[in-house]
Amino acid sequence: MNQNLHIYETPEDTARAVANLIQEKAKEKIKQSLPLNIALSGGSTPKLLFNLMANEYADTIPWHFVRLFWVDERCVPPTNIDSNYGMTYEHLLKNVPIHDANIFPIQGEIDPKIEARRYQNTLETQLPSRNGLPKFDLILLGMGDDGHTASIFPNDLSLIDSDQFVAVSVHPVSNQKRITLTGHIINQADEVIFLITGSSKADILKQIIHREPEFENYPASYIHARTYPAHFYLDRTAAEKL
Ligand code: 6PG
Repeated sequence: MNQNLHIYETPEDTARAVANLIQEKAKEKIKQSLPLNIALSGGSTPKLLFNLMANEYADTIPWHFVRLFWVDERCVPPTNIDSNYGMTYEHLLKNVPIHDANIFPIQGEIDPKIEARRYQNTLETQLPSRNGLPKFDLILLGMGDDGHTASIFPNDLSLIDSDQFVAVSVHPVSNQKRITLTGHIINQADEVIFLITGSSKADILKQIIHREPEFENYPASYIHARTYPAHFYLDRTAAEKL
């Protein structure tokens, strides 16, 4: 089985494996007296991870060395139920001792084009650079059941190769505007992991992992870390067709 597939019995076990990975990486970075720069995704899957980290890792992850950014954001205020930052605050941020200065949200309430430029500038000033691109230590991605990731949707694959590393996108069904990292900056990260659970993703995941016909239609197919493929953290139901 592909060494980048990490398959667990339950969503909780899968979330715990990701929490442990984050803890390990933070402790590695501390040895270099460096922060761990992570970009988080939103949606529903990370809620389990964030609740677990809040409940069981508040005292074991060195939060003063963790700096949190976002992969994407819905263009809504943080108080809106759709807000990725709002969800992260409720399930994680308000429950762990992370300094506000280490939290770099995308501001969904700002005009999207203005905010995309602002957030791009934030990444340029707050992150180390490699090959002219800001570099994350770790990017946590989800995948929609249409194969999208971040807010790069199948009808806008141009965002995979965009020169803009922060772009405005539009959800193809809801027409909700999004702000998203694009392919090059995601693929520049030292490590990229997908956290995917549930049987609704099993068919597309099979197409993507096994490069089956039409896999090129899915944005998640184009994602990897700078020097090796993305790691997939899956529960048994998401992996049932692999
Ligand atoms: C978002 C996410 C998005 C998410 C997938 C999976 O803003 O919605 O960044 O890319 O990871 O849509 O979402 P679920 O976890 O809800 O299935």
